[in-house]
Amino acid sequence: MTPAETPTQFYGADIAYVHDAGFSDFARAAADEVLRRMPAEKAAVVDLGCAGGVLAERLSGRGLEVVGVDLSAPLLELARQRAPDARFVQASAFEVDLPRAAAVCAIGEVINYQHDGTDLGPDRLTGFFRKVHDALVPGGIFLFDAAAPLRVGKSVRRGWTEGEDWHVAFEVAEDRDADTLARRVVAFRRIEGIWRRTEETHRQRLWPRSFVVAALKEAGFTVEVLTGYGDLPFPGSLIGYCATKAHA
Ligand SMILES: C[S@@+](CC[C@H](N)C(=O)[O-])C[C@H]1O[C@@H](n2cnc3c(N)ncnc32)[C@H](O)[C@@H]1O
Repeated sequence: MTPAETPTQFYGADIAYVHDAGFSDFARAAADEVLRRMPAEKAAVVDLGCAGGVLAERLSGRGLEVVGVDLSAPLLELARQRAPDARFVQASAFEVDLPRAAAVCAIGEVINYQHDGTDLGPDRLTGFFRKVHDALVPGGIFLFDAAAPLRVGKSVRRGWTEGEDWHVAFEVAEDRDADTLARRVVAFRRIEGIWRRTEETHRQRLWPRSFVVAALKEAGFTVEVLTGYGDLPFPGSLIGYCATKAHA
């Protein structure tokens, strides 16, 4: 699919609903990982790509100040209902002004998506890592995961998941030359007895582990590579990173 053919909708109302209902496990596990790794100094936790506020709810419930950032208005609406004590901003993770933070999170391939209208190349990602480093308190952490090349392998991958009032099918194709991926998502949602079909195509840039580690180190972080959040392991070619800012 060429960029011109890419549907413009990104986490519209129905895909937002399905994500929130069926795919929040990483956010829950990551929230506990943040709590385990938080520095002693109190400051905000910023959740980039916060979706429906699952992580924000868990952390603001522990008395932490949480700022959630997302591109999707329907997901932010869910987040505001779920975590009324947190603050939410509709903006790109890469462009938003970051407050002084004890932790910055980007859980669920947030740094892979190419949907904020500006090409996400290596230089932009490296500049973003520097910005996160500047915002963190000494000892602060940047916790995230990112899809790497070979996420799909040689052929197209298809799958299917369902809940009580939704079904979702996906078809993922990787361009091995460009290190990009297109995930076609077709969701059916039952509203007042009638099934509604929605389709979106999500485009990602895949980041090799060696590039991410080198870019984080260049930004000033020490880096730990993770294979999961807590007891929840990552699927193949999804890689976790806990990047820590040095103590002063
Ligand atoms: C796979 S979902 C993960 C959501 C949530 N963090 C979780 O773990 O359940 C990816 C989220 O990132 C958001 N997103 C993608 N690119 C973004 C960007 N540049 N700025 C802000 N949010 C972004 C999407 O709207 C979506 O909510």
